This record gives sequence, C-alpha cells and structure tokens, in this order.
Amino acid sequence: MTVIDALLNRRSVSPRMMSGPGPADAEIDLMLKAGARAADHGRLRPWRFVVIRGEARAKLGDVFAKARTLRDPGANAAEIEKERGKPMRAPVVLAVGARVIRDHATVRTIDQTLAAGAAAQNILLAAFALGYGAMWLTGTNCYDPVVKAALGFDEDHDVVGYLYIGTVAEIPAPLPVEDLHDLKVEWHGPG
Ligand SMILES: Cc1cc2nc3c(=O)[nH]c(=O)nc-3n(C[C@H](O)[C@H](O)[C@H](O)COP(=O)(O)O)c2cc1C
Repeated sequence: MTVIDALLNRRSVSPRMMSGPGPADAEIDLMLKAGARAADHGRLRPWRFVVIRGEARAKLGDVFAKARTLRDPGANAAEIEKERGKPMRAPVVLAVGARVIRDHATVRTIDQTLAAGAAAQNILLAAFALGYGAMWLTGTNCYDPVVKAALGFDEDHDVVGYLYIGTVAEIPAPLPVEDLHDLKVEWHGPG
C-alpha cells in the first residue's frame, strides 16, 4: 500500500465492527512512532500516548463510571454501565494527549493541540496500513478532570481523543474519493 493509497482509502472502523486481536507490541510502537512524526510547530513534541489494553481497559471503564457518577449524580444504572463498558469495545485503546505550554513565547496553544491531533491522524493511518481498524472518539471522558488525572494527564494536558484499535470484523463500505467542488477555491488576490 502506498502512502497515497492509505491517505485516499482510510476509513474509520467503528468499535462495533471490531474484534480481537489487537495490534502487538511492535505494531503499537510503529503506530506511535508514526504519530510522533507528525508536523510539530517548534518541535515541542506535545503528544503523549497512553496505551490501555487487557485488564487495564476494565480499570479505565471503572474510572469512566466513577467520573460519570461524580459529574452526574442523577445518572441511572444503565448510563453508568454504558460508561464502564466503553473501553471494552476494542482490544487496544490509545489515549492521545497534548502537553500544552500555555504561555509559550511563539507557539500558540492551538498549534500545540493541532500537532497532537496530527499525531492521532498519523496513528489512524498507520493502523490502516497495518491492516487494523481504528476510530477516533472524543466525548466527555476527554475533558473530565477525574479521567484525565487517572490517565496521568494534569492541567497542562489536553486529551485530543481515544483511538480504538482492533481487528476488522466487518469491513465498512468504501467511501467515494472526496469531491473538491465545494472545498477548493483558487485565490487570485483580494477583491
Ligand atoms: C477530533 C475528532 C473527534 C471525534 N469524535 C467522535 C466521537 O466522539 N464520536 C463519533 O462518532 N465520531 C467521532 N469522530 C469522527 C470519527 O472518528 C470518524 O472520523 C467519522 O465517523 C468519519 O469516518 P471516516 O474517518 O471513515 O471518514 C471524531 C473525529 C475527530 C477528528
């Protein structure tokens, strides 16, 4: 698969369409190295990767459930259990964080967060190239301080997402190549 093939054909695979096994150690490291080659203003290397797999997924589920209970005491049992089950939906979950230097002299915080987002996208592409299904999900568990602290992310970190990665159990329909019609303009100057 060429890089262009991967760029044009990558599709997200919902965790509902995944099974085990997840990527092996060496494959995870390859994905993370691809992530760490993302564009990076100032070479700040803002990305942080937390690998959650095996029994740690259930522990993260317990953290999601506790966090939901704390921020939403009215949540019912089904809602709490749904939170608990989230990390179990894929064999490997990667939490991608950005360590953001809020007062950096030249590199704005948005650039630092975007660099971590670019790392996440590189990881999705690497997962696809290695034959795995992957999907980038965010939601409240990216921003909840209880969850962030449990994952080792302090107030200097943003969590840009959870990447769910596993074997493709059900192949999603391919998407058509993007039509640039509404996306592209050629600029010839102001006015
Ligand atoms: C920053 C970011 C956050 C996302 N969060 C969610 C999410 O919480 N739930 C969801 O269903 N899709 C989310 N998505 C979208 C999916 O990851 C996926 O890109 C989308 O379903 C389109 O599928 P495709 O990647 O095959 O085009 C997010 C995407 C990005 C870039």
